[in-house]
Amino acid sequence: MSHPLPHAPRRFAGPLRALAIALLLYHAAALGADDMLLADFEGASYAPWTATGDAFGNGPAKGALPGQMSVSGFKGKGLVNSFHKGDTSTGTLTSPPFPIERNFIGFLIGGGANPGKLAFQLLVDGRVVRSASGPNSQPGGSEELSPESWDVSELLGKTATLRVLDDATGGWGHINVDHVVQSDRRPAGIRRDVVRNVVASRRYLLFPVQHGAPSRVVTVSVGDHVIVRNDVGLAPGTPDWWAVMDVGPWQGQTLHVKVDRLPEDSGALDAIRPSETLPDAATLYREPLRGQLHFSPQRGWNNDPNGMVFYNGEYHLFFQHNPYGWGWGNMHWGHAVSRDLVRWTELGDVLMPDVYGPMFSGSAVVDWKNTSGFGKDGKPPLVLIYTAAGNPTVQCLAHSTDGRTFTKYDGNPVLPQVTGGNRDPKVFWHEPTQRWVMVLYVELPQRGHTIHFYTSPNLRQWTLASVTEGVRGSNYLYECPDFFELPVDGNPRNTKWVLLAANTEYAVGTFDGTRFNPEHSRLPGQRGKGFYAPQTYSDIPARDGRRIQVGWFQTETKGMSFNQSMTLPLVLTLVSTPEGPRMAYNPAKETRSLRKDTRALKAKSLQPGATPTLVGEAELLELEADFEPGDATTTFHVRGATVAYDAAKQELSVNGHKAPAPLLGKRQRITVFCDRTGLEVFASDGLCYMPMPFQPRPDDLKVSAESSGAPVRLRRVALHALKSIWRP
Ligand code: FRU
Repeated sequence: MSHPLPHAPRRFAGPLRALAIALLLYHAAALGADDMLLADFEGASYAPWTATGDAFGNGPAKGALPGQMSVSGFKGKGLVNSFHKGDTSTGTLTSPPFPIERNFIGFLIGGGANPGKLAFQLLVDGRVVRSASGPNSQPGGSEELSPESWDVSELLGKTATLRVLDDATGGWGHINVDHVVQSDRRPAGIRRDVVRNVVASRRYLLFPVQHGAPSRVVTVSVGDHVIVRNDVGLAPGTPDWWAVMDVGPWQGQTLHVKVDRLPEDSGALDAIRPSETLPDAATLYREPLRGQLHFSPQRGWNNDPNGMVFYNGEYHLFFQHNPYGWGWGNMHWGHAVSRDLVRWTELGDVLMPDVYGPMFSGSAVVDWKNTSGFGKDGKPPLVLIYTAAGNPTVQCLAHSTDGRTFTKYDGNPVLPQVTGGNRDPKVFWHEPTQRWVMVLYVELPQRGHTIHFYTSPNLRQWTLASVTEGVRGSNYLYECPDFFELPVDGNPRNTKWVLLAANTEYAVGTFDGTRFNPEHSRLPGQRGKGFYAPQTYSDIPARDGRRIQVGWFQTETKGMSFNQSMTLPLVLTLVSTPEGPRMAYNPAKETRSLRKDTRALKAKSLQPGATPTLVGEAELLELEADFEPGDATTTFHVRGATVAYDAAKQELSVNGHKAPAPLLGKRQRITVFCDRTGLEVFASDGLCYMPMPFQPRPDDLKVSAESSGAPVRLRRVALHALKSIWRP
């Protein structure tokens, strides 16, 4: 709805009157009682404003235009945005004349800073009497609109027009304007570099976070030393949730919390508070969309699992963590530990962004021989190898001898940038050559995505050993490489090396300590959706010998204070197939410890067309089915999800997403885990693994089976109701 400038008509009738009341109510939230809205640019056209040139398009934009960074800080859905046709376009947008009736005109403004050429102007008698420009004068910056105002008390009673001018054609050659009001109170403006000193009197410092709030640069320092700098959607009022910074290391000291830009009326800085306890402790892990079988961070965003290592009897799970937002950003390494791979205790962030940049993905090893010298009192150190993704982007180390506190190596970085964006070091000890090997993702100008292999005697000095072929333009083994040796069919005398990458495509081949020789071109790994950047565990004891992998499970949880999760622990094996050895994924046996009660169906036949056979009901569940499908399609309805096996096509489909799943002789075996946020489905003894984000309806607990086309013989169907990983 576009709101015309001059006075609203005095008399309303019928629907017009209803509309007027609705408009008044709508604006009451954004306007003071006596404020007058001049324009909010919510309609399809600019009318009654008039545009010239091509920069403003035919009407208000609904946020960012094609090729523009995300635009924020405007009110409602529409705004003036002169980025139509990019920065090179020019034009003007002019209001009809209106009387100045209040002391102030307030508005939101963003875009380029170029006062002569990019301006929001107030004109009286054809002369520019007030003018404002955007905040950005150099590359980078932000497309956020901020409040500004003019004192126009001396112009009261005059007739004026407003004009948005875009006469600029270079970088930042556009201007954004929204929500123009007349008011007798000075509308709140923006304060820059506002500082609050807070004594770290408690363990944590809490920051109020609101979804969609404009992002602020929040810097926390002690004296002149910057501890961390984060982009935070600070809540001006009641927060959606509280982000947590562990300020244990600075107890008793004064922390300077600085915010780059803050509206004068924002309560955010005052709301930041010390706390001894974590917020929401009573509801933590009981939230409606909290995965109960899958690890997720207490709050904030996670992506890749990092630093997977078994150390001192614990499985460590570090992860790409944004502690201050629901989306990606501010990459820290979060940290959790488990004794059984399924029940996790989150310990808090161990790596914070520093002068080398945000903490991107990497791995961990136990340095048994203390080659690095980071060991202490005979204790082998746990060493993290990570990417600091600044400019340049470099590889770094951090170490610990207790698995709790980590010290960044003072000789960082250990590997300079090869090309921009090189990242995700995965390191392992190569016994035959008695050296460390690192695989690193590097994009080369000629070859595109490659994996670089480095070797090191001590984790500190690295030498380039070889580079994979790479195929320019294709996604050949792109980011987050992992590399390990596996026996084929469990035979320790017949092993192969597997090189795999974030999207789980992989190659099988041989490795001599310096160079990987793939035996074929890349193969598809997992067959589902929302699975990325998996990593396998380092230092699993030899008596166990499993290759255990965890992936980032992209389970979006709208409305929660956390977002995304990790998959179940998966055991990777190489299985002979007619095409050669292929990777199989199976749930680690530790997941069985979650079973709390089991309902099994007696062996029976499913007749096509019969009503589905009820297997049972459960919220968190594991379904195991072993069946002879003939030529039929066998369908399991699992809490509203459809898991169907088409035997004629030898194809599994989960909620319509299909993948090949070879028959096992005449049989098929399917395992389905169902959580509040997703399914993990295993078929063909792990040759087909389909993780699928999915949110079952809370009231739909049924699991049933049916056949179509032909009868199906069910040999064994068991439904295990599962316990939550978060409760003892
Ligand atoms: C993969 C990835 C990595 C990078 C990390 C940053 O999801 O892009 O390559 O290290 O995420 O969070």
